[in-house]
Amino acid sequence: MTTPSQPKRRVLIRTYGCQMNVYDSDRMADVLAPLGYAPTEVLAEADMVILNTCHIREKAAEKVFSELGRLRDLKQENAAQGRSLTLAVAGCVAQAEGAEITARAPWVDIVLGPQSYHRLPELVARVARAGAIAPNPITGTPGGTRLLDTDFPVESKFDHLPEATQGQGISAFLTIQEGCDKFCSFCVVPYTRGSEYSRPVAAVLAEARRLVAHGAREISVLGQNVNAYHGEGDNGPVGLAQLLRELVKIPGLARLRYTTSHPRDMDDALIQAHGDLPQLMPLLHLPVQSGSDRMLQAMNRGHTAADFRRVVDRLRQVRPDIALSSDFIAGHPGENDADHQATMALIRDVGFASAFSFKYSPRPGTPAAGAPLQVAEPIKDARLAEIQALLRDQTQAFNAALVGQECDVLFTGPGRDPGQVAGRTPWLQPIHLSGPASLIGQIRPIRVVASLRNSLSGALAAGPGQPLHAPATQEPATA
Ligand code: 5AD
Ligand code: SF4
Repeated sequence: MTTPSQPKRRVLIRTYGCQMNVYDSDRMADVLAPLGYAPTEVLAEADMVILNTCHIREKAAEKVFSELGRLRDLKQENAAQGRSLTLAVAGCVAQAEGAEITARAPWVDIVLGPQSYHRLPELVARVARAGAIAPNPITGTPGGTRLLDTDFPVESKFDHLPEATQGQGISAFLTIQEGCDKFCSFCVVPYTRGSEYSRPVAAVLAEARRLVAHGAREISVLGQNVNAYHGEGDNGPVGLAQLLRELVKIPGLARLRYTTSHPRDMDDALIQAHGDLPQLMPLLHLPVQSGSDRMLQAMNRGHTAADFRRVVDRLRQVRPDIALSSDFIAGHPGENDADHQATMALIRDVGFASAFSFKYSPRPGTPAAGAPLQVAEPIKDARLAEIQALLRDQTQAFNAALVGQECDVLFTGPGRDPGQVAGRTPWLQPIHLSGPASLIGQIRPIRVVASLRNSLSGALAAGPGQPLHAPATQEPATA
């Protein structure tokens, strides 16, 4: 706890990459709070900066090194004014390139992998004890403490984390599973996040209840391979479908989502849960990567394009309004034009409400990076452009089809303009409308009025206008 004699320190955490990193960043803020660190968004007032990094594609990793260059200058300016600035690099770049960071950016104090952030307080204390290493007298480059913690501990970090000190608001993330054993040819995750681990059911439910008590109406449960979840329950391991059935029993929790899933783990029980649980929102992110069986095999995905189509058909049978989102990679090694056309055909046949698509990016240490038949950059660019144009059309058509329809909206905050409130449809589209701030935290039926560039606009639907659920309790955020 801080005391009046202990001045508050500020930590700025910059998050790159996926939602799991967003969750991890919040938990790092939690473990630092007892040391007197309050979060800030303002770089100039920060005593510590943590970059929580992503290594999934080359571009994401390179950003970190350019950011570290800027932070070296800031550390130098602060040092000239007698202020210290602790720099930490966390996350997947730290895990994969820890040694390179300490060599290329010796002014960094702490490098910690995604399994180690519960040890952050200890590392911060060691930095404080060591004091900043003196700047290089010739170059003036500030010194760093260069503590490196990228072990995969035997015990999970989740066993060591304190309870979250703050809620996350109306729409919250909850990591239930980490790591991956699938070893897709192109992917660094099994190397940076380690092997698959599922949190026990009781721990997940306790955290979900806390989030709801702090005002969450919607929870997205997260995992690199979330539908491979197999957490320990009272009577042995429990799958994701059963966990979702437990979560929906929490009073006040109106919406549930889960991400990211693998087509191979869409078992019967999980598909059925989409038919049975109205709280489970009708948008599923299910990465398929390619529509070509040859490529799916080269990628070590363990399923065919027909398997994926079958899963989609079955989901649509049990939940007719379900929409699909996915990830696609253009130009994996060995991909020829027929493979690319198979991907285009799958996109056309299935129809996606939204999607992410990427140019294949070789990641050091992955099998695909060293594979023969790398696809030339201009070909990758052209294929990606075609994929993205088709996906963009599908997203626009999906959004436009909602205009004139009614749907429930969960209001999560004020809109951009005064007098506006903003929220999300069941399909995660951002939507805003003119309405009172008292709508925030509520779910209301809304008529969609227009489909704009990146969002929808709406109006409160006619009718009794009753809130569908009780307003969220706004408890003070205390530990
Ligand atoms: N190159 C391009 N895209 C990749 N992804 C993962 N690894 C790579 C890579 N090496 C994409 C996949 C995955 C998403 C999170 O990132 O589509 O589903
Ligand atoms: Fe990476 Fe997902 Fe494949 Fe695991 S299943 S290796 S996280 S792409």
